[in-house]
Amino acid sequence: MAKNSTMFVCQNCGATYHKWQGKCDTCGEWNTIVEEVSKADGFSKINFKKEGRIIDFVPLKGTMQTYSRLQTGIAEIDRVTGGGLVPGSVILVGGDPGIGKSTLLLQVCAGLSTTAEKYACYYISGEEAIDQVRIRASRLGLAESPVNLASATDVRNIITTLEKTEAKVVIIDSIQTMYLDEVESTPGSVGQVRACAYELIKLAKRKGFVLFLVGHVTKQGEIAGPRVLEHMVDTVLYFEGERGHHFRILRAVKNRYGATDEIGVFEMQDKGLAEVENPSALFLAERQGNISGSCVFAGIEGSRPLLVEIQALVSPSGYSTPKRAVVGWDSNRLSMILAVLEARCGINFSAHDVYLNIAGGLKISEPAADLAVAMAVISSLTKKPLPADMVVFGEIGLSGEIRSVTQANLRLKEAHKLGFISAIIPPVYGKDKKEKGLKNYELSCYEIGHVQRLINWFN
Ligand code: TYD
Ligand code: MG
Repeated sequence: MAKNSTMFVCQNCGATYHKWQGKCDTCGEWNTIVEEVSKADGFSKINFKKEGRIIDFVPLKGTMQTYSRLQTGIAEIDRVTGGGLVPGSVILVGGDPGIGKSTLLLQVCAGLSTTAEKYACYYISGEEAIDQVRIRASRLGLAESPVNLASATDVRNIITTLEKTEAKVVIIDSIQTMYLDEVESTPGSVGQVRACAYELIKLAKRKGFVLFLVGHVTKQGEIAGPRVLEHMVDTVLYFEGERGHHFRILRAVKNRYGATDEIGVFEMQDKGLAEVENPSALFLAERQGNISGSCVFAGIEGSRPLLVEIQALVSPSGYSTPKRAVVGWDSNRLSMILAVLEARCGINFSAHDVYLNIAGGLKISEPAADLAVAMAVISSLTKKPLPADMVVFGEIGLSGEIRSVTQANLRLKEAHKLGFISAIIPPVYGKDKKEKGLKNYELSCYEIGHVQRLINWFN
């Protein structure tokens, strides 16, 4: 009989140590090493003399079971999940506390249970009492939905109960409140979260229901974050948004049944989360025309074009080291663009603080925003506004060249739809416009090959 032994395991890379230490030598992360009890002694005790069962091999080509996806009735969710929920799949919904995960999933549940198919939905809350969920449901106008509701945290009871039901969709809110009595650590610890998720996932696969696991993102790391579960589930969705803003973005970061990088946009209203069909219009709603330091970037999020306003403020610095602050974009990329503008155009920022903001609280990761950032920064420095009806996109290389980006047509089409009349774009399409298939959608497109030519816009 194997003896229990204690190991110290890095939660980031999985390296093991005999005693605790602050920093993991393998991955270099701090405070990621946690004590775990394991059934020792691994391989040395495995008895290979005892025969296993023969496993079956089949040809790759063969008939498959076709699964029909469950439509939630919320178009943004169906899009993010790749066209609906796949029976037997496990979806992790991560996000900061209070961002709206419970609200969203209650709406999904209500949607699924009231569709024509009337899917049997089970909502298990470990955080809130029945009445609290009922109050939320009536606030959302969903009090009449035939959702089965329970307040429970013991996974053993949950599994025994679900075994006996014909559940099609199960929601566990949140996985950090669940516990299994066999695991010694407290609820929310890495060991508990993994063990509970493992048991629930096994049941979901066997019974073929869709399992949603809610996971809070934590900064302090006292309770395990959703990251420790990412590899165990089929789909990982992160629900993001800035506290002060009313819109929320559901982003797929992993999806075994669809494309990643797809986003769904919602607006938090007093009656819950409303779908946003035209996100560009929302993000540009509060834009003031004709001010310096503002530039509209034609971006792509997943498969969808999205226009956002990039705001820059360049002001004389009172510090010996000038300040650079960025909200919603990569600060290293801003430093790179400032360095390129200094080296290739002779614009000096060393005596200026530079602040950059993606209006509306959106986070952008596309390098295609480089050109728009550069234009916003120069516009603020020179105090010359850009035309309010112009969009910009293009990547900037270290030698100052403007590089082409994907899906130019889609970006221009969206700009045209929203009433923009001109665009600054990379020069790829130069001579053989027709061949490359650039449609300008009645926009005047100005192709720029190098950052030096940007300066012309401000003279
Ligand atoms: P909640 O779904 O409880 O967040 P999470 O489960 O991610 O912790 O959402 C809580 C916030 O949403 C709370 O601050 C109030 C707000 N809210 C609304 O603005 N409108 C609504 O209709 C509801 C139900 C919540
Ligand atoms: Mg909640």
